[in-house]
Amino acid sequence: MDAATWDERYRGSELVWKAEPNRFVAEELAGLKASGRAVDLAAGEGRNSVWLAERGWEVDAVDFSAVALEKAERLAADRGVRLRTVRADLTAWAPAEATYGLALIAYLHLPWPQMTQVLTRAATAVRQGGTLLLVGHDAANPEHGHGGPQDPRVLYTAEQVADLWRPYADIVRAETVTRQVTDADGNSRTALDAFVHAVRS
Ligand SMILES: C[S@@+](CC[C@H](N)C(=O)[O-])C[C@H]1O[C@@H](n2cnc3c(N)ncnc32)[C@H](O)[C@@H]1O
Repeated sequence: MDAATWDERYRGSELVWKAEPNRFVAEELAGLKASGRAVDLAAGEGRNSVWLAERGWEVDAVDFSAVALEKAERLAADRGVRLRTVRADLTAWAPAEATYGLALIAYLHLPWPQMTQVLTRAATAVRQGGTLLLVGHDAANPEHGHGGPQDPRVLYTAEQVADLWRPYADIVRAETVTRQVTDADGNSRTALDAFVHAVRS
């Protein structure tokens, strides 16, 4: 999906995603002490960025949807924190190396060649000892889970991401995690997410 399509999806006052952080992000990072700058790649409406800012991080929220970033700024203002929003296409955005104490990627799905570029730049943008965290729809989700993109070309496994980050980082966790969601008929379903936590070496 291009930026205009995402803008269309985000238009309207309701949040497409919730105002609360993704539960895997919150659970994994709750114990991490803020240390300077964090970058939230594909930040959307800022639910994770705002949560990080509330915990003391100076957050760069990057996304190519201007509408999403306006909503992220509003959410931040409502919650009394500041974000630095950056409107950029991540396939072309090159952050300075060793800049961040944390890079977060939540539910960004690009064709794998582009995804590898983003993941590599995220890894090099984090300074030694900093944290890399990814959560996204797992490659097995269309067949064995529920929701999310159905195109296998934009899906990945935790192991694929871990293999890519291994030259740059020590892998703390790389696994498939499950989330209970409700389908269109109101039934409870299990969604499968790829989850990777790494520490920059
Ligand atoms: C499913 S949303 C996830 C938003 C947020 N990370 C969250 O978990 O709430 C995916 C986001 O990726 C952004 N996105 C997709 N492709 C992008 C690209 N090439 N460059 C920048 N942002 C992109 C979209 O605008 C959208 O906000």
